[in-house]
Amino acid sequence: MERGLPHGEGFLLCLLLHLLLQGRGNTFAINCSGFEQRGVDPAAFQAVFDRKAFLPVTNYSNPVRVNISFTLSAILEVNVQLQVMTSFLWLTMRWYNQFIRWNPEECGGIMKLSIATENLWLPDIFIKELITVDQAPTGLMAYVSSEGSVQYNKPMKVVSICSLDIFYFPFDEQNCTFTFNSFIYTVENMVLGMQMKVQDISNISRTLIQSKGQWLLLGIYQSTKKTIVGTNQYDQLVFHVAVRRRPKLYIINLLVPSSFLVAIDALSFYLPAESGIRAPFKMTLLLGYNVFLLMMNDLLPDTGTPLINVYFTICLSLMVLSLLETIFITYMLNLATTKPPPIPPWLHSLLLHCTSPMKCCPTAPQKGNKDLGLTPAHLPGLKEPVEFVQKVPGPQEGTIGCPVSARICPEDVAQKQHFVSLWIQFSRMMDTLLFRLYLLFMATSIITVIVLWNT
Ligand SMILES: *[C@@H]1O[C@H](CO)[C@@H](O)[C@H](O)[C@H]1NC(C)=O
Ligand SMILES: *[C@@H]1O[C@H](CO)[C@@H](O)[C@H](O)[C@H]1NC(C)=O
Ligand SMILES: *[C@@H]1O[C@H](CO)[C@@H](O)[C@H](O)[C@H]1NC(C)=O
Ligand SMILES: *[C@@H]1O[C@H](CO)[C@@H](O)[C@H](O)[C@H]1NC(C)=O
Ligand SMILES: *[C@@H]1O[C@H](CO)[C@@H](O)[C@H](O)[C@H]1NC(C)=O
Repeated sequence: MERGLPHGEGFLLCLLLHLLLQGRGNTFAINCSGFEQRGVDPAAFQAVFDRKAFLPVTNYSNPVRVNISFTLSAILEVNVQLQVMTSFLWLTMRWYNQFIRWNPEECGGIMKLSIATENLWLPDIFIKELITVDQAPTGLMAYVSSEGSVQYNKPMKVVSICSLDIFYFPFDEQNCTFTFNSFIYTVENMVLGMQMKVQDISNISRTLIQSKGQWLLLGIYQSTKKTIVGTNQYDQLVFHVAVRRRPKLYIINLLVPSSFLVAIDALSFYLPAESGIRAPFKMTLLLGYNVFLLMMNDLLPDTGTPLINVYFTICLSLMVLSLLETIFITYMLNLATTKPPPIPPWLHSLLLHCTSPMKCCPTAPQKGNKDLGLTPAHLPGLKEPVEFVQKVPGPQEGTIGCPVSARICPEDVAQKQHFVSLWIQFSRMMDTLLFRLYLLFMATSIITVIVLWNT
């Protein structure tokens, strides 16, 4: 008696619990007796399959909560012209189907079953930014647990519209948005939740994207907001996918060669202007640069005006400007040596002022010679400044000519040589000045571009 009462109480409790459990899941409990011997009986699930057209809830006041997570496994393409990002992701959805419930103990311990998704109600989750229809493979399966939770994974190739800004190309970062949303269910029927934390999604995606492609995943961030369309409120999950371009290809193929060509262009100012090889050299460089731009055009974005185009334009204008400068200096030198016009007084005083540390004008070419490193080829007698000063009065050195009168010739020749030397000095000064201006312009523009790239 003493031992029987507790036993009876336990039995009663067990019965009560059983009845309660039965009562809770009674209507939709799946009779799975015999599953372990004869396999799953389709008839047992027929009631569930028949209801697949309807929300899997028993009380329509409670919405279905669909938990979402995804892993981004590849960034296939970012198309600037179409403003489209193509990526590949695995979408995982999890929700409770209240019509599915069984007792694993009666079913030989079966905790979960895989069921073809065409027999089940599926949430109509889509990504708002999609611009192609979802091409998920058909015939996918979903895992259903004895509690009624359904897990459904599907691969998605996401071609999504994304506002791309290529101003900072090739150092650009893009920020594309994925908005997960239901087609028709309002918040009264469906709410969306997170299956895992967004940091985990970001971490897993980062480790999953092993490809050394052009784009580096910086991270995935979330911002939640509900949308209201008309009088209906829809739940949605908003993710921002931040990616950065790997710029190495563009640095090696575009920026470095371009900088080399501009550097050579700047260095070519040290070629003597008098020798006449500077202009052809610069011309060749300019041609080479144009060919380079034509060849590398495919690497540049098709639309928009990225900063790199400005950079190329600056490089090209620098080359054109330096060519123009060379033409100008060559013209001046030519003018000076063939028929030097009289020096205007202001220019004379300017030249004197500029060369004031040196006492007299003819020594000025020394500075020029030192600067340019080479002697003018077509100016006999200008090999050495001292030599020049000494040799000027020599009648045999007046090769520029004094055909008519030998008597007035020496003064004439001296006068002319003086003009020539002053003009040459002036040309060299102009050359040096313009070269410095060129360097200044080059430095400021390139520093500006680099500063803009770094912001
Ligand atoms: C389950 O089905 C079997 C036959 O397949 C039947 O004998 C049993 O009574 C059913 N159990 C319940 C609780 O309906
Ligand atoms: C349905 O759910 C609502 C809200 O949770 C609750 O107030 C209501 O009593 C439920 N109806 C039934 C029949 O359980
Ligand atoms: C969805 O997420 C919520 C909160 O994280 C959790 O309580 C619920 O059980 C989840 N639902 C499913 C089906 O996993
Ligand atoms: C991406 O853009 C959205 C707005 O369009 C902004 O709220 C979010 O902070 C941006 N994320 C990053 C990482 O720049
Ligand atoms: C993500 O990964 C970083 C290192 O890669 C780690 O420091 C961080 O804790 C991780 N975050 C989460 C939420 O796991």
